[in-house]
Amino acid sequence: MTEFPAAPEISAADSWEDLVPVVELAYGGYGHSAEYHASAASIFEPKRSLVARTGGRTRGTCAVYSLEMTLPGGPRAVAGLGYLTVAPEYRRRGVMRAMVLRVLHTLHDSGAEPVAALNTTEAGIYGRFGFGLASQAAKVRIPRHARELRATAGGERTVRIGGPEEHTAAIAAVHARCVGERPGMLRRDAAWAARAVLDLPDHRGASGRLLCMVAEADGEPSGYALYRLTSAWEDSVPRYEVSVRELFARDPASGAALWRALLDVDLAGSVVADRPVDDPVLALLTDPRSAAPVLRDQLHVRLVDVDRALEQRGYAAEIDVVLDVTDPLCPWNERRFRLRTGPEGGECRPTTAAADLELTARELGALHLGGTSLVQLARAGLVRELRPGAVRAAATAFRHDPAPFCPVVF
Ligand SMILES: CC(C)(COP(=O)(O)OP(=O)(O)OC[C@H]1O[C@@H](n2cnc3c(N)ncnc32)[C@H](O)[C@@H]1OP(=O)(O)O)[C@@H](O)C(=O)NCCC(=O)NCCS
Repeated sequence: MTEFPAAPEISAADSWEDLVPVVELAYGGYGHSAEYHASAASIFEPKRSLVARTGGRTRGTCAVYSLEMTLPGGPRAVAGLGYLTVAPEYRRRGVMRAMVLRVLHTLHDSGAEPVAALNTTEAGIYGRFGFGLASQAAKVRIPRHARELRATAGGERTVRIGGPEEHTAAIAAVHARCVGERPGMLRRDAAWAARAVLDLPDHRGASGRLLCMVAEADGEPSGYALYRLTSAWEDSVPRYEVSVRELFARDPASGAALWRALLDVDLAGSVVADRPVDDPVLALLTDPRSAAPVLRDQLHVRLVDVDRALEQRGYAAEIDVVLDVTDPLCPWNERRFRLRTGPEGGECRPTTAAADLELTARELGALHLGGTSLVQLARAGLVRELRPGAVRAAATAFRHDPAPFCPVVF
């Protein structure tokens, strides 16, 4: 009979090095470079992050980051979960479950961030823990022959190209201006900013180094794109792929100028990018079908404390609604809440009043960044309407324009 190893004990990590053996094994046994580990260590928060150990050896890992994320209503503290890994011989016996529940309960007990978020290697894992799909990316592949864009008002922009190291100040200035525009975006300190331009040679594969285009208006940086080229030839015809890591612009003319420059890179056959689902370029293409956007899940969001989380965000309309919430993993959320919203935000209090909507914490997580339609969830049978009109009214209040987007994997 197989003897199972002892159940691991979960405790705070001492340092990033604690995680390394299991992280490397979990993602396929690749040894990473010293530069990779130095970057991971630079954002690592040992006191908050967890390891599961037996006999002094790490068997499971979970990094917890103190993020400042734009939500509907402005920047807010959100706990980010990353590097959730379990050693192969300890899998499917609840180690990850124990770590995730420890994080959620610790956040609740300590009154820290009321919301947790993660991006995941496999989209089917975290719904069972009450994480709802809150933002999506549209993967676009624009062929060079379809590069014609509609005219944009706002004048000409100069576009300069170089290595990202030449444009650090421009990248920081533009990002700081754009970060508040969409829910899901993360503010960056120096360590996170350095990761945005991290260009590890052992991660490049067949691609060239990271490059940067900067758009300028009146001599000031007004947009930038980080991208790289991958060489490809078809019957001696160059069909390079231009793959965009980030593109931000302070104004429409700068965004359009960057897209024009990317779509006009010599030797290129196509431009590929993960973009917000409502990216302006989709409206600018004269041949909109050519971009062939494909949706992919991005941020999965968990309301740790429903009342604090709903008071933390802003709303697009005034509502007065009673939510009957189901949340077996975080039983403090399993009750009815009265949510009243106005221009200043929301007030969310426990109530004994009759419910208007019945839903799970997972659905509230999906709604939190304003990118998921409550009407869609109700039509899917995931939200129950107990008072006629409650779905439509709440759907308007929870939605946010523009759509959420998070270009960072943490
Ligand atoms: C994903 C991983 C962390 C799961 O660890 P684990 O300890 O085996 O997970 P648990 O035993 O706690 O599983 C908890 C639940 O998640 C489910 N689950 C685990 N891995 C899953 C997967 N890859 N896909 C779908 N469901 C999964 C389990 O079936 C279990 O479901 P149940 O609660 O309904 O019974 C582990 O397989 C791993 O390290 N994978 C490689 C790295 C990775 O992809 N990490 C995710 C990064 S976000």
